[in-house]
Amino acid sequence: MAKYLVTGAAGFIGRSIAAALLARGESVRGVDSLITGKRSNLIGLEAMEFLEGDLADPAVCVQACHGVEIIFHEAALASVPRSVADPISTNRNCVTATLNLLVAARAAGVRRVVYAGSSSAYGDTPTLPKHEGMLPNPISPYAVAKLAGEHYMQAFARVYGLETVVLRYFNVFGPYQDPTSHYSGVLAIFCRRMLAGDQPTIYGDGGQSRDFTYIDNVVHANLLAAAAPAEMVAGRMMNAATGSRITLNDTFRILCDLTGYQGQPAYAPPRAGDIRDSLADISRARELLGYTPLIDFREGLRRTVEWYRTTQTA
Ligand code: UD1
Repeated sequence: MAKYLVTGAAGFIGRSIAAALLARGESVRGVDSLITGKRSNLIGLEAMEFLEGDLADPAVCVQACHGVEIIFHEAALASVPRSVADPISTNRNCVTATLNLLVAARAAGVRRVVYAGSSSAYGDTPTLPKHEGMLPNPISPYAVAKLAGEHYMQAFARVYGLETVVLRYFNVFGPYQDPTSHYSGVLAIFCRRMLAGDQPTIYGDGGQSRDFTYIDNVVHANLLAAAAPAEMVAGRMMNAATGSRITLNDTFRILCDLTGYQGQPAYAPPRAGDIRDSLADISRARELLGYTPLIDFREGLRRTVEWYRTTQTA
């Protein structure tokens, strides 16, 4: 019987958490609809029990939660622009799926759910860094959907005593992030294009900034959130990030060094739903989890470029 359930286990963050759990010798079940997750991401995770299914189907949630003690809920339809194009699908895969999972988790006697929240909840407020005491201000359907999931987590903690913990991720990047869709994260797209000698496109003037967070830091925060005493974390929400930010223009220059790309970026109009700047205050995660980032941005980017260099053929 699996002790841990990872939802979205064939996706970028879910597969990385599952790999870390397996490396520790834990028993893990993974569930994924394979809508955006990839079967190839399961290579190396053979010790994980894998269930293919869609969490928007309550029966899949029941099956997934059976016998489990702790859930890492990473499954989602990521991407702001995808949600702008199709808000119904985002709602189904982020909100309906999350509520179904919580209902099944409670019924199965699951003790703790660690939820992948999103920095997009903060919206385009000028205050930096973003701290958890700020009022949410979601500006895209994606941000609304991820925030609704947070509220469900908090309600299930208060009303049913489920130990839920929300980690608000800030622009996670690293190995296994899909670079092939125009809905992919910017660093995945840029690495792939620049390694292939293709020109990347910057939406807007490139002055927008992000607290890009290397995957190992997010995995670390999740493992801490699963292990922290309930009185510290149950029903709480906290940022998971690095606490530093960089503009896209500066990132492009670093990537030129790392990839050998010698051209200039193309510039295109800003994307609908985009925010200008994003930077996390990580003091709450430090205080509640003892979290500190393990890998800084440049080292993370170096490792990421190397991974794409060895795994992408074109
Ligand atoms: C948002 C959320 C993040 C969430 C992610 C899911 C915020 C601050 N962050 O990230 O928490 O996990 O969605 O998808 O809302 N860009 C280019 N060229 C490209 C692709 C993107 O210039 O080819 C730009 C975008 O316009 C944006 C920046 O790069 O300004 C980052 O985009 P992206 O990687 O999609 O992430 P966010 O939208 O910031």
